[in-house]
Amino acid sequence: MKRSKLISGNWKMYKSVEETKAFLRSLQARASEFQESELLVFPQGPLLPILRDEWKVLGGGSFLQWGPQSIYWEGQGAFTGEISPVLARELGCTYALAGHSERRQFFGETNESAAKRALGAHQFGLKAVFCVGEQLADRDGGRTFEILRAQCAPLFSLAKSGPEGFSFAYEPVWAIGTGRTATSAQAQEAHHFLRGLIAQAWGEDGANRARILYGGSVKPDNARDLLSQADVDGVLVGGASLDPTSFLQIAAACKEC
Ligand code: PGA
Repeated sequence: MKRSKLISGNWKMYKSVEETKAFLRSLQARASEFQESELLVFPQGPLLPILRDEWKVLGGGSFLQWGPQSIYWEGQGAFTGEISPVLARELGCTYALAGHSERRQFFGETNESAAKRALGAHQFGLKAVFCVGEQLADRDGGRTFEILRAQCAPLFSLAKSGPEGFSFAYEPVWAIGTGRTATSAQAQEAHHFLRGLIAQAWGEDGANRARILYGGSVKPDNARDLLSQADVDGVLVGGASLDPTSFLQIAAACKEC
């Protein structure tokens, strides 16, 4: 089954209002080249309404989508600091990131809460990008598959079938922000393993429909190699997504795959 590829950018805690608008102008200036692409950005929450309004003013097309970097699983309530999926929808979001390794490392995100966020997003009409990935010590110790299995376990026990449009992101922690990308063979191996796990939980069809993105030091010069792998269905780009030129170079590399 042919899965279309998704080029997503995680802006983390970067970009001002003006920088966001400038990014959108650069993207819109080259819109005709990317009409067939699926581009997605995850800005900080307060930038979401700016993005929605500015993209509309620019006459931006549906090739760009956006979503928050984390999401709660209830529509509203006394949950200080969280982002409501209902509000996210109102702000034009179509996706939400869940379980990014920085949420796990600095903010106490667990396999359970990440799974609840991802599935909660789907209950409110958003599509999740659910992040998993091992630390360096786990890779060196030969525990990569074990870690991936554990990270997915609560998700698969909460959801017996795959929600439509659900994506995974394999992001080895040792490759994030380090400039040390996984080789395309390492990425393919981990993605293939994940696809097998998904098949066990959600069946072959569910596994064929789920997209698995690769993240961790994706740059214009390694994107093509990674995106050419059979089980790499897109990328989740951090640093190189902040600059519209490099983000679009990655999107252009994707068109050649
Ligand atoms: P990076 O970040 O591309 O800067 O390594 C990836 C991510 O954290 O999603």
